[in-house]
Formats: sequence, structure tokens, C-alpha cells
Amino acid sequence: MSEPSNQNVEKSFLTQLEALEDRFLQASKEHAGKLTRDLIIVQNRLYAQLESLAWLQRRLAIKGQLPPLRGWASSPDVLLRLHTHIMSTRPGVVVECGGGASTVVIADALSQNGTGRLVSLEHSAYYGEQTRSALEGEDLGGWVDLCIGDLVPWKGEHLNPADAKQPSRWYPMKLLEGVENVDLLWVDGPPGATCLFSRYPALPALADKLSPNAEVWMDDTIRQEEKDICERWAADYGFEVEYYALEKGLGRLTRAGAGVQRSPMVSAALEDDSHPEWALGLDFSLPEERGKP
Ligand SMILES: C[S@@+](CC[C@H](N)C(=O)[O-])C[C@H]1O[C@@H](n2cnc3c(N)ncnc32)[C@H](O)[C@@H]1O
Repeated sequence: MSEPSNQNVEKSFLTQLEALEDRFLQASKEHAGKLTRDLIIVQNRLYAQLESLAWLQRRLAIKGQLPPLRGWASSPDVLLRLHTHIMSTRPGVVVECGGGASTVVIADALSQNGTGRLVSLEHSAYYGEQTRSALEGEDLGGWVDLCIGDLVPWKGEHLNPADAKQPSRWYPMKLLEGVENVDLLWVDGPPGATCLFSRYPALPALADKLSPNAEVWMDDTIRQEEKDICERWAADYGFEVEYYALEKGLGRLTRAGAGVQRSPMVSAALEDDSHPEWALGLDFSLPEERGKP
């Protein structure tokens, strides 16, 4: 067999190099495309929060400012929804688990309604005092019973296993003495680090204090734990649950058969994990691309 000539070796080497270059170019195009799509999604999520914040600010009558609505705080989109809901449904009694910016937003809506009362359960004396001073600064203290008390062992029904590392704790039940006819229960505490399913006791604790058409709103349902709680509440206490594709997710429980309007587009979009932008109502695809993975 004859040895390949230098010319042939060089040719085959160049062919391989060209194939490698093509593959590299293709991979970097795909990578750049994915990066651009991800950036657009992040940008639009941020824009959606800024838009909600702008509308929230228009609706609020407060003169000062809210704490930063990032991290531990409720997001602008859910606060806007909460404020709008309270102003349109004019609840008599609202109960909140976990205070902060939402306490001020709810109190502002009640004050603009000129009716209603907020019972705000808070476990932290430190953050409770911050909320109290924010309310007083806006002359909203009269709309809120700020009920501060350390979390105590919870003996009732719970999803946290009895032998769990972190025992079940919740707000002291005595904070709820005399509370009845609750039209809206807004659940955003106690913190998740308390124990597994830390927010579960809210409904067992308040079920017989709710008014016939009460709604229960659970923040943070992008977390599976909060979703599991909503499912159990719905099954055990006769509610229908709908999830809203807000930044941190909102679970809205309404009485079964209460005839509350659903948003099918949002629910359908939420089921499609491969298109997170759809869940935000941001669909940039061309009509012919829709329905393709
Ligand atoms: C999820 S947060 C509640 C947020 C509240 N609903 C709001 O809209 O701001 C749960 C708990 O975080 C605590 N908290 C309040 N302000 C905080 C802060 N600046 N940093 C860390 N935790 C805070 C409070 O004890 C509150 O009950």
C-alpha cells in the first residue's frame, strides 16, 4: 500500500478543520439565540414588575414610600392585584398572615374604601414595629389591628410530619379572639424556615371564622410547598383554587360554586414549562410557530 501523499494529508486535515468550524459556528449561534431569549424573558419580567409598581403607585393614596418590594416582600404585581381586589369587593374583615408592605397596601385600600378592618398577624416584634411605624406615618393605624406574638407550638392538623426536625409552630390563636366574618385571608407567613408547610395552619385556624363568600389568597405558589397547601385546603375546606402566573405565583381559593370568573389563558400557560414567557402573557412567537415546542 502506498503512503498518503503530503498533499492528501493536508486536504483531509483541512476538511476536518472546516467541519469543526461549522459545528462550532452552529453551536455558538444556538447559544447566542438562547441567551437572547433568556435575556428577553428576564427583561420582560422586570418590566412587568415596574409596570405593576407604576399602577400601584397611582392607586395608593399614601404620601411616603413603601419598603423595597424585592426579596422577602410581596411583589408589586400581587400587591396591585390585592389593592384592586379590596377596592372593588370592599371586604369588611381582612386577615393577613405575615406583615410588611402588604399591611400598608391593604390598609390604604380599606382607608380609600372608608370601611373595613385588617387583622395583621406578625411573629416578629422587630418587623412588627417597623410596620406599625409605617402605618402611623401614613395615618393608617386606625384601619389595622397589628397582632404581634411569637410563634407557638401548633397542635392542630398539619402537613408537617409529627416527627419532623422542625416542629410545627404558628401564630398564637389568642391573637384571633373575637375575629369573625373574614372576607379575605391573605397568607404570606410565617416564614418557610419555621417548619415544613409553615403556612398550612392558616385555614384550620380560620375556617370557622370565614364569611360565606370568603376568599383565601396564598402568595408564593411558585413554590411546590405553597401549592400543596392550596390543594389540600381546596380539597378539605370546599374551595376551588386558581393559580395566577405572577412573579412569585398567587393561589386564589374561592368557594366552590361561588361563580368567580376564571382566567383560562393564564392557567393553560402555566402548564407549559418550556415557555415561561407565556405564563407572563408575553408571547413573541409568530402565529405559525405557536403550538410548536
Ligand atoms: C414573606 S414576609 C411577609 C411580607 C409581607 N406580606 C409584605 O408584603 O411585605 C414574612 C415575614 O418576613 C418578615 N419580614 C418583614 N420585613 C422583613 C425584612 N426587611 N427582612 C426580612 N424579613 C422581614 C416578617 O416577620 C414577615 O412576617
